[in-house]
Amino acid sequence: MSLVCLTDFEALARQRLSKTSWDFIEGGADEGITRDDNIAAFKRFRLRPRYLRDVSEVDTRTTIQGEEISAPICIAPTGFHRIAWPDGEMSTARAAQATSTCYITSTYASCTLEDIVATAPRGLRWFQLYVQTDWELNKQLIQRAESLGFKALVITVDVPVHGKRRNDIRNQMDLKMNLMLKDLQSPEEKKFIPDMQLSSINSSFCWNHLSWFQRITQLPIILKGILTKEDAELAVKHKVQGIIVSNHGGRQLDESPASIDALMEVVTAIKGKIEVYLDGGVRTGNDVLKTLALGAKCVFLGRPILWGLACKGERGVEEVLNILKTEFHTSMALAGCRSVAEINRDLIQLSRL
Ligand SMILES: Cc1cc2nc3c(=O)[nH]c(=O)nc-3n(C[C@H](O)[C@H](O)[C@H](O)COP(=O)(O)O)c2cc1C
Repeated sequence: MSLVCLTDFEALARQRLSKTSWDFIEGGADEGITRDDNIAAFKRFRLRPRYLRDVSEVDTRTTIQGEEISAPICIAPTGFHRIAWPDGEMSTARAAQATSTCYITSTYASCTLEDIVATAPRGLRWFQLYVQTDWELNKQLIQRAESLGFKALVITVDVPVHGKRRNDIRNQMDLKMNLMLKDLQSPEEKKFIPDMQLSSINSSFCWNHLSWFQRITQLPIILKGILTKEDAELAVKHKVQGIIVSNHGGRQLDESPASIDALMEVVTAIKGKIEVYLDGGVRTGNDVLKTLALGAKCVFLGRPILWGLACKGERGVEEVLNILKTEFHTSMALAGCRSVAEINRDLIQLSRL
């Protein structure tokens, strides 16, 4: 089977993975309305191409938090890469390094942070934190990531409790049977999280805690999971350095807006003061172009990275990233954009907004 677009990887990954693993990756919360709308919403926007511009050279490079990446297409944090490929996050890290992109490593990585860094020492990486009830453990994780060269701290805000994923319950999905959450073992006690449903995510984490993070780390702080102008304004007020517009791939609050639909309200509220990124439903080069046209600095991919891993490990992740980058390059040329700086709101048909 030739793999020419991201959904080809999806189809092959479905064949390769066990039903339980497939359901875990693909699943959305409750009725899956937001998960599906993430993709459908992109298709409601139409593009306004400009012609007779010299697009013989198109440059997809950009920067995030001052670091250059080869295209505005990066890797979102997803847990447990070893359910898709034996080398797990180490394969992902090597592919990210090879394609010069940013890889956000999850708190729920199934390889240690040290192994991930050692296997791809030159890669650009950010560390994603699910704030734990144990503040000492939060501090240890952040300071460990910082000393290992992670370049930003991504704090996920949309999981005060876990969303309900029906198929995981039906399948009695039990990640601890196969995987150790190595980075959540506190060094002394070597404890494992006993159960996903009973994990020690901190439900009382709120805005006031951000100053604690700012005191213990020099890293820029990015909030992941912002969907409203009110929270975007609070993020600026609390002096974070960036936000990721995201609904967790539709895995948390079902019937929250599609990411691309929430983007405009957030971008308008931010007024260019901090960088805004997006994840959720990005599957084509046009999706990337639309996201940038509506004001985001880059996109992050969740499930497509896991499909790449499940199909071909490190090579599959590289292919997924390269296919999307090539599509984005084509989209830019067809729309008349020679550089990322030339992508703006005029590319989007206003009647659809
Ligand atoms: C299998 C899976 C595991 C995920 N694990 C995490 C995680 O550990 N931390 C986190 O912040 N988000 C996690 N997410 C959410 C992603 O970071 C991202 O928001 C979402 O997958 C983007 O949507 P997409 O899959 O349509 O690209 C996970 C998503 C999936 C599908």
